[in-house]
Amino acid sequence: MSTVVSSTTTRVLNSNLAQKIMSADEAAALIKSGDQVGMSGFTGSGYPKAVPIELARHIADANFRGQKFQVSVFTGASTGPELDGALAMAGGIHLRLPYQSDPETRKRINAGEMDYMDIHLSHVAQFVEYGFLGKLDVALIEVTAVLEDGRLVPSSSIGNNKTWIDQAERVILEVNSWQPAALEGMHDIYYGLQPPPNRGPIPLVRPGQRIGTPYLEVPPEKVVAIVLTDSPDRNSAFKAPDQASKRIAGHILEFLGWEVKKGRMPANLLPLQSGVGNIANAVLFGLEEGPFEGLTSYTEVIQDGMIRLLKSGKLTSVSATAFSMSPDMLNEVNADMANYRERIVLRSQEISNHPEIIRRLGVIAMNGMIEADIYGNVNSTHVMGSRIQNGIGGSGDFARNGYLSIFMAPSTAQHGTISTIVPMVSHVDHTEHDVQVVVTEQGLADLRGLSPRQRAHLIIEKCSSPDYKPLLLDYLNRSERLSYGKHTPHLLGESLGWHNRYLRTGNMRPHEEN
Ligand code: COA
Repeated sequence: MSTVVSSTTTRVLNSNLAQKIMSADEAAALIKSGDQVGMSGFTGSGYPKAVPIELARHIADANFRGQKFQVSVFTGASTGPELDGALAMAGGIHLRLPYQSDPETRKRINAGEMDYMDIHLSHVAQFVEYGFLGKLDVALIEVTAVLEDGRLVPSSSIGNNKTWIDQAERVILEVNSWQPAALEGMHDIYYGLQPPPNRGPIPLVRPGQRIGTPYLEVPPEKVVAIVLTDSPDRNSAFKAPDQASKRIAGHILEFLGWEVKKGRMPANLLPLQSGVGNIANAVLFGLEEGPFEGLTSYTEVIQDGMIRLLKSGKLTSVSATAFSMSPDMLNEVNADMANYRERIVLRSQEISNHPEIIRRLGVIAMNGMIEADIYGNVNSTHVMGSRIQNGIGGSGDFARNGYLSIFMAPSTAQHGTISTIVPMVSHVDHTEHDVQVVVTEQGLADLRGLSPRQRAHLIIEKCSSPDYKPLLLDYLNRSERLSYGKHTPHLLGESLGWHNRYLRTGNMRPHEEN
């Protein structure tokens, strides 16, 4: 529960801005139906925790009176239950972007009750700056403190906060005294990115380099409300790595070792990017036991596995836009934040995910997937082609521009009833051109330098589950004989029918089919 702290001396040191302290209820009343609101928040970190709940209450009251009240919500990425959960439950979101992972939000989007725009995370800030998404009415941003001169100490995520503050007509701040004061100095906010045709190179050449200022800047006259809170971030605990995840991690480590041996990578590798989810976290756990030292990371979120690598000394520095840690790890890190501050940089997501930097640094991109097809196209977002799971997040930013692009998943989902290797993905997020390595617990397929048919044989051989391998081989063999073109052989009528097969057979494994 958020609590309004009455003392103005706590974290709001600017006396003019301190005049604007009010309750969350009063601040929420400043948001109107139809407003486009840019909110802070990236995974369960640094999102506003008091005003969205009150806004949801105002929306529910309006609905009760028969008045429609909806806002559009733009964030960094996913948030917590007090934001996405509360607003979705109230039916208060007209358009949501760019990423979500909240169960209620997902339910409403998939029921066709909420519009959702799933876009590359590196695009969001510039889409708003260029005016592609219309006017931003309100920025609702959690910060750690307001300094005497009015600059803002950011919170546990940065996301698009700089852009929301710059672009919005009015700004509401939540100052959260639960966030450790020692976060001050960890952030790096770059104010040098101009729109084209005046955009110059971003002067960032090392993952841990600082090129901006630790503070967010806000014109004081834009600030219409400050709300004091004392509420924890909320991220869920990671599952302990299971056998499949450990085997995936093992394959990736072996592969990276091979790349070093071949002279294609230095012994301390290249900066690592690790995606969201349990498997990505398991790979980081694997690196802890692996042979590599002096690692760096240029990524989007800092998960438990990253912190363990920092603690063990294997990882020397990490750049991200947000923390995304389990509650236990969060408590541990918060208690020792000053110690981590030297090795962690939190940046705006337009910089953490910027194609120019990712390409320059030669990032090793490792992301989860829902399914891959035999030619290497990857679906990261849609179950059965139509039901959104989360969103593309930053996976496209890293996969397209990384030195190496690795996608991973267990070879089957839903207790073995679905193969994650399919003839044709039911939705394409990453085309065959952006995917160099596919890994499952069965093995790793290195697709570099291979033609589509070579890739298909290798992916089936290395990555598919033994339960599905004969079916996939049968499909490929018949396609090679009967396909209209022989470059990327397909039997189009049959390829997507593969997914319907599951709908027909329900929860049966292939060998249980009649
Ligand atoms: N068919 C049907 N369902 C599938 C499936 C498939 N091929 N693959 C996965 N699923 C289901 C799982 O069974 C699970 O269902 P449940 O919630 O009912 O248990 C759900 O999808 C999530 O799968 P899980 O294995 O727990 O996922 P994960 O934590 O490893 O995450 C992604 C995998 C793809 C969902 C996740 O990586 C993601 O959202 N990626 C896109 C964004 C991204 O990559 N961001 C990183 C950029 S920095």
